[in-house]
Amino acid sequence: MQYAIEAEQLKKTFTGKHDVRALDGVSFSVKEGTVFGLLGPNGSGKTTAVRILTTILRPDSGVARVLGHDVDKKAALVRSLIGLAGQYAAVDENLTGRENLQMIGNLNHLERAAVAGRAKDLLDQFNLADAGDRPLKTYSGGMRRRLDLAAALVARPTVLFLDEPTTGLDPHSRNDLWEVIENLVGGGTTVLLTTQYLEEADRLASNLAVLDHGRVIAEGTPAELKADLGATVLEVGLATTDDATRTGTLLAALGPHAPTVNGTVVEVTVDDGPTSAMAGLRSLDQEGIIPTTFTLREPSLDDVFLALTGRRTEDETEETDGPDKKRRSRERRRAATESMPVATGEFS
Ligand SMILES: Nc1ncnc2c1ncn2[C@@H]1O[C@H](COP(=O)(O)OP(=O)(O)OP(=O)(O)O)[C@@H](O)[C@H]1O
Ligand SMILES: [Mg+2]
Repeated sequence: MQYAIEAEQLKKTFTGKHDVRALDGVSFSVKEGTVFGLLGPNGSGKTTAVRILTTILRPDSGVARVLGHDVDKKAALVRSLIGLAGQYAAVDENLTGRENLQMIGNLNHLERAAVAGRAKDLLDQFNLADAGDRPLKTYSGGMRRRLDLAAALVARPTVLFLDEPTTGLDPHSRNDLWEVIENLVGGGTTVLLTTQYLEEADRLASNLAVLDHGRVIAEGTPAELKADLGATVLEVGLATTDDATRTGTLLAALGPHAPTVNGTVVEVTVDDGPTSAMAGLRSLDQEGIIPTTFTLREPSLDDVFLALTGRRTEDETEETDGPDKKRRSRERRRAATESMPVATGEFS
């Protein structure tokens, strides 16, 4: 069989006071033994797609298949083949980590004798051995997410769905988790993960799709996506908006990508980071402009989004989700960027 996961023209509208078209004809397929990344900003439909593929939710139309089985018609069979670590953990607060894993083993009809050993192995693998006998309500956010992923692996699923597996994790835990995922795929598991971090999709996924308003707006390999973008982003902070405007004009000469000026911050994607950074600094110096910050970083989902749609991911959430979600989205973006600076220099 060629594809472990297939989505064909999935549509889903949530009806209510205001109807929300969460998926508007989404199609993609995932080859066996590979990682597929579903990338998109808040509310783009990632979780809805995962919920349909994992039999939790029915689409209005379209077909989803896992290992060739229709998820709607063969829901029980599909459930026995997959693992899911959701955006909202499905674990019991009052049980210990070990008890949670054992409970899931028993629910999955693992052999009684094997359950304790499997729980121990997973606690070890996720660096939770010391915390294994504490109730989950005493775990930190990162420990919870690790336990949630361990829980998804108890039954050794062939196909694994991870909905934003590393959101909220510190860079060290994120790296650990990436290694676990790489090992699983090395062992033949197929993984579909959703993420808001381009860096994560780049590191793990062999193919990805970018969702926007329930539609696939781009798909391909991470390299293909980044090739349209330029390899790195030069971000320059200025003291005044006037300086920013002048800097925007100067950095346009770096080409071929046009800089964006946002208040006192100028961003431009560049194909050769260090060389462009040097050229940019020299031209600023010649004009007597002194930047307050000067950063060369990997492109983020926000940069991809801007390149694809002409909008920032943040613009979305502003209209529909209010200031709180907008703030969370901004914090996540910042966390994503902070974890992957290529070089940063302070000039003030
Ligand atoms: N049960 C529901 N009832 C009504 N609307 C819903 C429901 N679930 C999701 N939606 C809406 O559907 C759209 C897609 O939501 P979804 O959770 O799939 O997005 P997402 O890409 O996972 O976002 P995030 O990054 O915030 O997790 C959003 O506008 C959301 O508000
Ligand atoms: Mg989601």
